[in-house]
Amino acid sequence: MEKINYILSDKFTGKEVSIRGWVYRIRSSGKITFIVLRDSSNIIQCIASSEKLDENSMKELSSLTVESSIELSGTVRKEDRAVTGYELSILSYKIYERNENFPITKDLGEEFLLDNRHLWLRSREFTSVLKIRSTVFRAFNDFFYKNDYYQVQAPMFVSTATEGGSSLFSVDYFGEKVNLTQSSQFYLETLIYSLEKVFTVSPSFRAEKSRTRRHLSEYWHAEAEVAWYNNEDMMEDEENLIKYIIDEVIKNNENDLKIIGRDINILRKIKTPFQRIKYRDLIEKSKNDFGLNLKYGDDLGADEEYNIMVHYDNPIFVTGYPESLKTFYHRPDPDNPGEILCHDMLAPEGYGEVVGGGERIYDLNELLERIKNSNLNPEDYYWYVDLRKYGSIPHSGFGLGMDRLVTWICGLSNIKESIPYPRTIRRVKP
Ligand code: 4AD
Repeated sequence: MEKINYILSDKFTGKEVSIRGWVYRIRSSGKITFIVLRDSSNIIQCIASSEKLDENSMKELSSLTVESSIELSGTVRKEDRAVTGYELSILSYKIYERNENFPITKDLGEEFLLDNRHLWLRSREFTSVLKIRSTVFRAFNDFFYKNDYYQVQAPMFVSTATEGGSSLFSVDYFGEKVNLTQSSQFYLETLIYSLEKVFTVSPSFRAEKSRTRRHLSEYWHAEAEVAWYNNEDMMEDEENLIKYIIDEVIKNNENDLKIIGRDINILRKIKTPFQRIKYRDLIEKSKNDFGLNLKYGDDLGADEEYNIMVHYDNPIFVTGYPESLKTFYHRPDPDNPGEILCHDMLAPEGYGEVVGGGERIYDLNELLERIKNSNLNPEDYYWYVDLRKYGSIPHSGFGLGMDRLVTWICGLSNIKESIPYPRTIRRVKP
């Protein structure tokens, strides 16, 4: 008999097939047992009837429990009343493991579900989120390969900070104190002198104590760095990247979006170019347009960005942040003193920042001054400084929080729902 995976298609109606998977739901009524079987592709209703099976088999099948692993063989037919439109009439079966009291049931507390994440993540909704996440990661790679970028890898054990010392995790490294990386940016910068356009996707670590809906202490960071690009060139690649990823999700995951209750039309409306708005102008209109009390120089945190972005249904770029708000490597804008040539991409529907990027300082003295003004020791950054001594060039880059992107695309209420094993200030298990 043909062993198949994607059974929900007219191709198999009237055919005998075998499917393997797990009991998703089970209910018996007299001479019939309905088993809804789950596999990686979907769920399908299977019927055990005493017309086709002997008494013993009927007994064995009707006593199965949720999440028992089985193989069912039989004929497929179209059945509009069945949960996914098809039905398998069981002719024979094999039980792999009969399961006792699967602990995940309805209405359990969040902590219990997080402790049992290894079991909870089999849920239908979570499976769909993970399928969408898989598309997002694939599309991210595809986009860059299509646009002549090289994929590279940077180390996770590092001796320097890129995003400020307060969010560093330090670890014992053979008796020496080193850090877990916050960003691969500086290493990517070293690689543009040979490869010009590079990208990487890897974990970044932030010891931030914030308990917001959008912070993880270990998150998946997609970063790119490009020789000769200015701030505007970088934003163009980013908006095309986001549009490409969303189009791929719409193309490949329509059913998954339906399962998690995400309105696909919201995603279909995302258009390029994304609006560019200066930080200065955003602050100026923040009172009237968003009811926020902000003054020039205030940082935009999760709450402020939420209050701004609930008013948008397309991402926006906020550009020209004041120097005081951004780290030392950002290039000051020669035409607008006090501002830097950078951007954050904020996602609509209240989601806020998903990307941070911009031009990097490439003048040696300017960089040394910014390092010193940030109370850092230039010697710790000797290799980063060296890049400004040997063939320095204008360049730009960005970092995209993949978990934040998945959270927005799926319309989830918390970043923890976007990743199989979220690491937060209170949780490192399972
Ligand atoms: O804005 P960030 O801190 O920028 C950097 O790390 C740059 N060095 C990146 C670069 O230019 N190569 O982080 C970039 C993005 C943010 O926009 C956000 O989406 C995500 O990383 N991010 C987090 N995601 C989840 N949990 C956290 N704690 C995050 N911190 C940042």
